[in-house]
Amino acid sequence: MTGSADERRGGMASPASHPLLAALRTAIGQEFVLAGGDLPAFELDWRQRCRGKALAVARPADTAQVAEIMRICARHGVGVVPQGGNTGLVGGSVPDDSGSEILLSTLRMSKIRQVDTANLTLTAEAGCVLQSVQDAAMRHGLLFPLSLGAEGSCTIGGNLATNAGGTQVLRYGNARELCLGLEVVTAGGEIWSGLTGLRKDNTGYDLRDLFIGSEGTLGIITAATLKLFPQPAAVTTAMAGCGSLDAAVRLLELARIRTGPALTGFEAMNAASLALVAKHFPQLRQPLPAMPWIVLVELSDVEGEAHARDALEALLGEAIEGGLAADAAVAENLAQAHHMWHLRESITLAQAQEGFHIKHDVALPASRLTAFCADADALLARAFPQARVVNFGHLGDGNLHYNVQAPAGGDSAEWVRRHEEDVTGAVYDTVAAHGGSISAEHGIGAIKRARLARHKHPLEIALMRSLKQALDPGNLLNPGRLLPPPI
Ligand code: FAD
Ligand code: MLT
Ligand code: ZN
Repeated sequence: MTGSADERRGGMASPASHPLLAALRTAIGQEFVLAGGDLPAFELDWRQRCRGKALAVARPADTAQVAEIMRICARHGVGVVPQGGNTGLVGGSVPDDSGSEILLSTLRMSKIRQVDTANLTLTAEAGCVLQSVQDAAMRHGLLFPLSLGAEGSCTIGGNLATNAGGTQVLRYGNARELCLGLEVVTAGGEIWSGLTGLRKDNTGYDLRDLFIGSEGTLGIITAATLKLFPQPAAVTTAMAGCGSLDAAVRLLELARIRTGPALTGFEAMNAASLALVAKHFPQLRQPLPAMPWIVLVELSDVEGEAHARDALEALLGEAIEGGLAADAAVAENLAQAHHMWHLRESITLAQAQEGFHIKHDVALPASRLTAFCADADALLARAFPQARVVNFGHLGDGNLHYNVQAPAGGDSAEWVRRHEEDVTGAVYDTVAAHGGSISAEHGIGAIKRARLARHKHPLEIALMRSLKQALDPGNLLNPGRLLPPPI
């Protein structure tokens, strides 16, 4: 048992002379164990909200080296924080501030090991950037549909460790649904090879699904076998302006009924989201005039361009006639479609440029979304009348990024520091009242773990702790993340 970070620090040698570093250098090569001035780039999260201090960064080349690192860290009782692209939004991929954890960066493990076109699978190492997996599938005329704003830098290992969602979930599922097999290094440094590529395998507990979404707390994912799909013959995209969230939700229902499995994207953005994009990226033309809500609809069609366009135009025509949408614009070509997606994916950056804000990544049944937002909006308007609700997300999955931006013009960092506890408490209590989840896709990481205890049944937490104890008895893997602090 490693004990707390403080206990570990108590008996530790100074970082540079720590005997662990010598062992790591022998195992994976001097230049691949970084320390001192090389560390800060790895120690800060994407949101610049969590900065820790690592003992060192280890950059293994392959699975055998990951296993060796784990064996060495187990011998020294030192915690290991896996890091892929470091795009996580909940502070799970950076060290704590004890200076006693090893950061294990997977970025050198970036090979595509195999594409099996007959089985429609691709096997990639954990450090493969998502976009390179998409590109490899495309080179074989196939599709890997996981898609998110960070796809140019997040890794497949990080995607699976967080069970990432993104913009195609309503048709293809989360990262979990896209994974057929895993290779994992355990806390004790053993290698589990589960890269079967099987679509059916009822031979006991599903270890793959246990590791997916475990945020690096149960094992280190070193490779994955992923599902591929045929490329659709055509993809069409449109934006529609809705007078209310209720109208947007009813448009989603209509789209589901009319277009069935062709519906591959249904995103929603409130007026405040797109106003921030207009402010920070004025060069990005917005195809529609401002409306309380704008939805982005995407259809993927097996029959071809004309068929897809007809279906989308028919849907939008019916929506306008039925009063669900006031206005719509269908992309005329690929460039216009990319532009619409670019607008949607620029909200996160626009929020970051505007200043500090409080993120909430919540999931609700589609039937409760409107009531949830009405209640949460009213609560916040009463308590924090100057705050701005920047609400957008994957409406097709019932997943809203119900973010609260600090009032314009002030010290946003200070405002967030003073009010985060109360704002998030109010939002999460409202989520709970409507039967929702406090994390739809980003995970729990370091910053939501204290909240988990309040919003998950005690038995679920107890079972999760038992699993952690069974798989990582020394509490070496991403300690202090995901599981709530002990009471
Ligand atoms: P990291 O940030 O490096 O790590 C994330 C977590 O996984 C950490 O707990 C880390 O310890 C663990 N981990 C990383 N690699 C491994 C491994 N090999 N084995 C075990 N554990 C590991 N998320 C969504 O779900 N949907 C979105 O639409 C979305 N959009 C985003 C847009 C932007 C602009 C940004 C910055 C982030 C977005 N995210 C989104 C969040 C983030 O990109 C995803 O969670 C992504 O999957 C993280 O991948 P990563 O490689 O960056 O992981
Ligand atoms: C998104 O949907 O754009 C991402 O999850 C990022 C975010 O929530 O900011
Ligand atoms: Zn999202």
